[in-house]
Amino acid sequence: CGIVGYIGTQPATDILMAGLERLEYRGYDSAGIATVWEGEIQCVRAKGKLYNLREKLERTDNQARLGIGHTRWATHGKPEEYNAHPHTDTHQRVAVVQNGIVENYRELREDLKKRGHEFRSDTDTEVIPHLIAECLPEPSTPDFQHPNAFLDAVRQAVNQLHGAFAIAIICADYPDELIVARQQAPLILGFGQGEFFCASDTPALVPHTHAVLNLENGELARLTPLGAEVYNFNGERLRKFPRTLNWNPVQVEKQGFRHFMLKEIFEQPGVVRTCLEAYISSDWSAGENDSSSAIPDQNPVAGDTPSITTPIQLGLPESLYENLEHVQILACGTSWHASLVGKYLIEQLAGIPTMVQYASEFRYAPSPLTRNTLTIGVTQSGETADTLAALEMEKRRRIGLGQEYQPRLVGITNRSESSLAHLVPHIIETFAGMEIGVAATKTFVTQLVVFYCLALDLAYQRQTLPPSRIAEIIAGLRQLPSQIELVLSRQEHYLEELAHEFDETQDFIFLGRGINFPIALEGALKLKEVSYIHAEGYPAGEMKHGPIALLDSKVPVVAIAMPGTVYEKVLSNAQEAKARDARLIGVTPMHDPEAAQTFDILLSVPVVEELLSPILAVMPLQLLAYHIAARRGLDVDQPRNLAKSVTVE
Ligand code: G6P
Repeated sequence: CGIVGYIGTQPATDILMAGLERLEYRGYDSAGIATVWEGEIQCVRAKGKLYNLREKLERTDNQARLGIGHTRWATHGKPEEYNAHPHTDTHQRVAVVQNGIVENYRELREDLKKRGHEFRSDTDTEVIPHLIAECLPEPSTPDFQHPNAFLDAVRQAVNQLHGAFAIAIICADYPDELIVARQQAPLILGFGQGEFFCASDTPALVPHTHAVLNLENGELARLTPLGAEVYNFNGERLRKFPRTLNWNPVQVEKQGFRHFMLKEIFEQPGVVRTCLEAYISSDWSAGENDSSSAIPDQNPVAGDTPSITTPIQLGLPESLYENLEHVQILACGTSWHASLVGKYLIEQLAGIPTMVQYASEFRYAPSPLTRNTLTIGVTQSGETADTLAALEMEKRRRIGLGQEYQPRLVGITNRSESSLAHLVPHIIETFAGMEIGVAATKTFVTQLVVFYCLALDLAYQRQTLPPSRIAEIIAGLRQLPSQIELVLSRQEHYLEELAHEFDETQDFIFLGRGINFPIALEGALKLKEVSYIHAEGYPAGEMKHGPIALLDSKVPVVAIAMPGTVYEKVLSNAQEAKARDARLIGVTPMHDPEAAQTFDILLSVPVVEELLSPILAVMPLQLLAYHIAARRGLDVDQPRNLAKSVTVE
């Protein structure tokens, strides 16, 4: 869900609406705004996408300078107007927007009902305004005038909530205060001139200010036209300083592309280049290191950079790699697919046994503890609740055990300021820039780049590869940006045309093997996310054990067939599909006569070694998904039911 809040000198409604538009990727099944206007809470809500809310607001004349807004991704209660935020108390004095889940809402609701509170929604959030209203002093009492009356009421209320939440609250009795609180769900304050903002994510703040402050868990803030004060849940004032955001407002515009997803696909050559430049040393060469056979500095001073240049510079301390026996990677969705490629690379290049787990599964059934284990959390947003919780659990269960069980946590994310960065001591940033399309594209590809760098770094430090081989892979990586450009420019129009052929298609199968099996999964996920076509990704060799039963002339099969260890195998698996009349689409190397004979449709990419092929192979699959969805007239950037960062469990 997306939250915005404003207090200042400008009409709040316009600012809140603009903020919600920039957060719509976080959820969009209903939306609402509440302001304090003429001594009352004015609350306007609408089911469905934001334009419905905008239409309703056009009929109001509200010049309020204080308000909160919300765009919802339904958890508790259907996406109906009565469940849309903001929620208010029985007498409509307090309005609240929330992102998260109040786990103990059932008990709280029953108790509140017994005390005479009236509920109007099915949501967990609605208990919050009621609780706050109960804690507010009566207007006839001296406490009502107390400068901290509203803040204290919110504080007492949040202390009764269990779960993960970020909330923003306004009260008709205190028209100069906006109160916010955070517990395990992101919330950021923005500092303007005589105006203050809050939001669940930075895009809502970027047009107004670059001075921001991330609230931490267990913190509250009071925003007034004069300033912002931060407190902990015990009511103690904290000293906090804003930091400067480096987002550029242009990144959140479509720049002539029809959709953000297409724009972001086309940004991939640039972001891959940026990411490679960030981590690969320009002054390392295999030649000068070959004789010393890549022996890392034996006497590093703690915290110092090693004295000889290493090919990869991730900024991680050496202690993370010491006696490393296992790597475990925790992630969800597309990040989980990137992690599968990561596993392949770490195992094959650095020889370290690596497990990849869905964070949502791991947190309730963790694998037995292994010694000397590097745990990597991968999340482009840095906010996925399951990934954060899994990492937190991993950290907790290792604390207090012997040295070899100590937690070694690293995060891979596109958002270095996210909650992930507060949880793990080391972050490897993916430098993809703001990604607005809900379906991840450029963040996925840069996650892959980071895994290449990490695997090479491990291989170098552990001497599992000769420097000349490392140099060869690095040279191959450096070619990728221009090769991606080539694939995109050659295939954009071709795939736009090709998309026509799938107007009636209801199912797709994607096949890949080895390092490209995760790319088959990702191709299927992209297609189902944006086009709503049922798609399955399978390891090509497994097709005969099930999916083959689905095949007929109506089910196209996309096979990723890149030269290397499994090339011939994939081609013969594709033949098996062809024998069942399936339409065969091949992601194949350019100018390959064998591939040309096998496939009905060729999506060809430059010839690279198998190890480097996933980044090129995923390009046509992203374009295929995009064009099929765009042709069907679907909302590509905000597919139904999905949200970009899932900050609830
Ligand atoms: C959501 C998004 C996906 C994303 C997944 C994990 O489901 O729609 O695109 O892959 O979350 O997100 P993360 O931010 O952890 O990578």
